[in-house]
Amino acid sequence: MWRGRDALTAEALYSTWGAACRASAHPLFHVSSRHPFWKMRHHRLPRMTTISDRGLRMKLTVDGTDHELDIETEMPLLWVLRDELGLTGVKYGCGIAQCGACTVHIDGQAVRSCQVAAGDVWGPVTTIHGLGTPETLHAVQAAWITHQVAQCGYCQSGQIMQAAALLATTPAPDDADIDDAMSGNLCRCGTYPRIRAAVKTAAATLAEASK
Ligand code: FES
Ligand code: FES
Repeated sequence: MWRGRDALTAEALYSTWGAACRASAHPLFHVSSRHPFWKMRHHRLPRMTTISDRGLRMKLTVDGTDHELDIETEMPLLWVLRDELGLTGVKYGCGIAQCGACTVHIDGQAVRSCQVAAGDVWGPVTTIHGLGTPETLHAVQAAWITHQVAQCGYCQSGQIMQAAALLATTPAPDDADIDDAMSGNLCRCGTYPRIRAAVKTAAATLAEASK
């Protein structure tokens, strides 16, 4: 029974004419010239995607807010956050997983948002905008202020998200733990000593709060 285009699940779509669409370069699978590296990825329709009159409609939860977006499944999460949702605290550095400026959490795990296609997002997304609030800072954000970590600041939202993910799994990291976890987050200003100190301060704050 035909239930209308909005009722189609991604699974049904994929099994019926998805492959044909891909093979024939159907406009639904248009690859934006702005992100030519999308061509390197396979096309995939996640379960949370349906077909709307305007195109692919995707559901994402970002910083505790549910969104329905008409976007291409191959769009990097970084561009969804910055261009579609205006969350410009998430930074674009290299676009090739080499700098960490774009780090966000998906289901609590630190990821490079430039490397995760919107259609591959597997859980709630947390960005620097949702980690804490100006009134109630996350312990890592507070420690960053205490130690005046930022210089130019460009890398720092990614650094903070990476540090928060580290402390969620390793509450009392030593220097080696910190260096290992933070080594993929580059800082052209060389704030690494202050980052290490701030992570230790945040760890102490969280430990005190948990008593
Ligand atoms: S912008 Fe994603 S790792 Fe550099
Ligand atoms: S503070 Fe300038 S790049 Fe890190």
